Amino acid sequence: MQQTEAKPDRQLPPGPPRKKLRTMRRLAADYTGFFHWLHEQWGDIVYFEVPNGGHCAVFDPDIAEDLVRKPELFQKDTPAFAFEVIQSPCLARTPFGDEHRRLTDLTVTAFTPERTAAFRRIAVSEASSFAKELTEGSTVDFRAEVERYTWNALTTSMLGAGRELGPGPGLAMMRAAKLSFIVFAMPGYKLIRKLPLPHDLRARKAIRPLDAAVYESIRKARHPDSRETSLIAHFVQATERGESDWSFSSDSEIRDEAYAAFVGAWDPAVHAMAYIPHYLSGNPEVRARLEKEVDRVAGDRPLCAEDLERLPYAEAVFNELLRLQPAAPLLVPRRAVRDTSLGGYFIPKGTLVKVVTHVMHRRAEYWEDAEEFRPERWLEGQACPRGSYMPFGLEPRGCRGVPLGMAVLVSGLAALVRKWRLEPESDELPADGLEVGILSSPIRTRVVPRRAA
Ligand code: HEM
Repeated sequence: MQQTEAKPDRQLPPGPPRKKLRTMRRLAADYTGFFHWLHEQWGDIVYFEVPNGGHCAVFDPDIAEDLVRKPELFQKDTPAFAFEVIQSPCLARTPFGDEHRRLTDLTVTAFTPERTAAFRRIAVSEASSFAKELTEGSTVDFRAEVERYTWNALTTSMLGAGRELGPGPGLAMMRAAKLSFIVFAMPGYKLIRKLPLPHDLRARKAIRPLDAAVYESIRKARHPDSRETSLIAHFVQATERGESDWSFSSDSEIRDEAYAAFVGAWDPAVHAMAYIPHYLSGNPEVRARLEKEVDRVAGDRPLCAEDLERLPYAEAVFNELLRLQPAAPLLVPRRAVRDTSLGGYFIPKGTLVKVVTHVMHRRAEYWEDAEEFRPERWLEGQACPRGSYMPFGLEPRGCRGVPLGMAVLVSGLAALVRKWRLEPESDELPADGLEVGILSSPIRTRVVPRRAA
């Protein structure tokens, strides 16, 4: 008997009226608020339209997993133009299959015990300078401080170069990428993209010195006696010594791959750390427990890389921060490559499907006291009910840099709480969504020494 493929149900997920401009205005006014509203009004899977096309928002862990596990049907959509400074196909842009697997392996194999230890040493040393450089009684823009710290730790670990340039080139790169995403949501974006946009031109100019430093780092990594431990040195050495299935065709491809991972690491790291002053100052009992843990582990000596394994509460604080304020409030959108179905609904070809972690991580069905900042939950063994937590995405397209990302976050937090209590001037949380991280407004914060608090 001939088998016929079941036709997907032709019913779209429920959603707001198809008033594209009105929906766009609402989305732009309050990015994450918009998705909370969609979920409250229409449930676990919602369809909406804005001028650049049809979108689907997913709030349910099972539907999210179904989506993410089918990369051949729902392809991660990082528009090439958003990262024009990164020219070559990179891990973030190769959709699935053999090419993606080989590039993934190349990145994952960087995390040997030796290199992970080296990354931790860098993170701890940069974190200690970060905490030392804050001045008692001053008011700082905490966002700018965190941008500098994470820049220092990540350029040194990933690029092996560029620390001395300060975050300027990275900020220009991020600004260009984020503005491109905004342009992408506008009608006629293809035409607009053909214009020589000032933010792109500025970014290209600003990253020239970073390029020069990175090419020098690639050159050094080729030296037979090289002891470089950076991610980029691993790319050079593993591919050129035949230890990897991947090969790069030019140094600019190596640089592009490293930039792609760097951009994907720096922005979330800034985002995750930006909320520290608000959540600690608003939860003095958490702050006290954290201080106690760090004091007990390090005593009077400086923090060291090995301490990172002895700070479970500090790690729990980040798990909880990433739950309430996920660095990617929406995972990278997936585009339906053909008409298909998801969660029992019809999804037309071309729809951009988004997993909204900002909502999923706060659903009362899965999380006890969902809106409360309670790091203890991560130590109580019931932390992650039914896969409803995915701050690093999910296989096969999940994050490749968790060990390094967590080392930077936990080191920064531990170094800060040893010395300071940071008091934000405003009770209002830093803006989230599209405005988050590198484009968000300053976070004015008072630096109070612990002994004076
Ligand atoms: C605080 C730190 C970090 C956070 C919160 C974070 C989060 C994420 C998220 C949410 C994704 C997208 C997952 C998806 O849409 O399914 C991702 C992808 C990725 N991350 Fe990270 N990341 C961090 C640090 C890093 C670091 C240090 C690296 C360095 C290697 C890295 C490399 C990547 C790569 C290569 C991808 C793309 C993987 C693919 O598409 O196959 N990330 N990350």
